[in-house]
Amino acid sequence: MKVLIAGGRGRVGSKVADLLEQNDVEVVSGGLDDGVDYIQGTGVAEVLEGVDTIINVLNTGRFDKEGAVDFFEGTTRALSAAGERAGVKHHILLSIVGVGEGDASEIGYYLGKVAQERALKEGTLPYTIVRSTQFQSYVPVLADQHTVEGKVMVPRDLIQPVELDELVALLGEIALAAAPLGEVEIAGPERFHMDDLLRGTLAASGDTREVITVESDGPIDAMVPRGEYRMGSVLYPVREIPTAD
Ligand SMILES: NC(=O)c1ccc[n+]([C@@H]2O[C@H](COP(=O)([O-])OP(=O)(O)OC[C@H]3O[C@@H](n4cnc5c(N)ncnc54)[C@H](OP(=O)(O)O)[C@@H]3O)[C@@H](O)[C@H]2O)c1
Repeated sequence: MKVLIAGGRGRVGSKVADLLEQNDVEVVSGGLDDGVDYIQGTGVAEVLEGVDTIINVLNTGRFDKEGAVDFFEGTTRALSAAGERAGVKHHILLSIVGVGEGDASEIGYYLGKVAQERALKEGTLPYTIVRSTQFQSYVPVLADQHTVEGKVMVPRDLIQPVELDELVALLGEIALAAAPLGEVEIAGPERFHMDDLLRGTLAASGDTREVITVESDGPIDAMVPRGEYRMGSVLYPVREIPTAD
């Protein structure tokens, strides 16, 4: 089996590449550092030669609606169309819990992921969308993203972070099984309130930023699974944070 990891040198992609290589899969990395650009169309046909499965773990630093939609929609359409021409049999896309059908969020980045899922579904390649909650290691980044003038302004929304290796294991499993599943979700074993989680995480690392609870601008369960999902088993590393249940 030959797998193209679009974004294969990124945080998720590099770990998936290691896992698949340990399972004797031929892995090709397709990202900017590999000379492949799905926006410009550079090197895309070449990198897809002989590929059976695409794992799409591309990412952008654009969090505004226009930038995120352009990136996620454009790269996914380009990959799907080139994949169809190359005879790819399975397109696996990493998405986020909370951007599925019926879920609504006005956050620009999330709208980009909604557009990405739609672009995948409009193509003809058999697909699996893997929606993950936030990675446990990403929680400090969330604190930075919510920091305004030195204070962390965050709602009491629910959050259920997953350990990255457990997501990577699921992506690897789905690629190796070579049987498109449609849509699957994964989350960690514990549900927290986001303000509690950030407060406890910052305190544990000696970060003195104050965390201020602000009013939520949407449903408080928008970021946690609402239906069936794969539950990881790795507990959040900071243990003294109250859970939400
Ligand atoms: N962080 C979370 O908690 C979380 C939760 C759920 C889902 N996700 C999803 O996980 C996915 C992967 O995230 P990540 O943190 O692994 O991303 P990352 O480390 O930023 O990696 C992104 C990859 O995309 C490549 N790339 C960017 N623009 C490209 C272009 N125009 N053409 C070709 N390659 C391009 C980069 O290539 P170079 O390395 O060569 O620059 C890089 O390898 C994202 O889609 C994100 O939405 C994240």
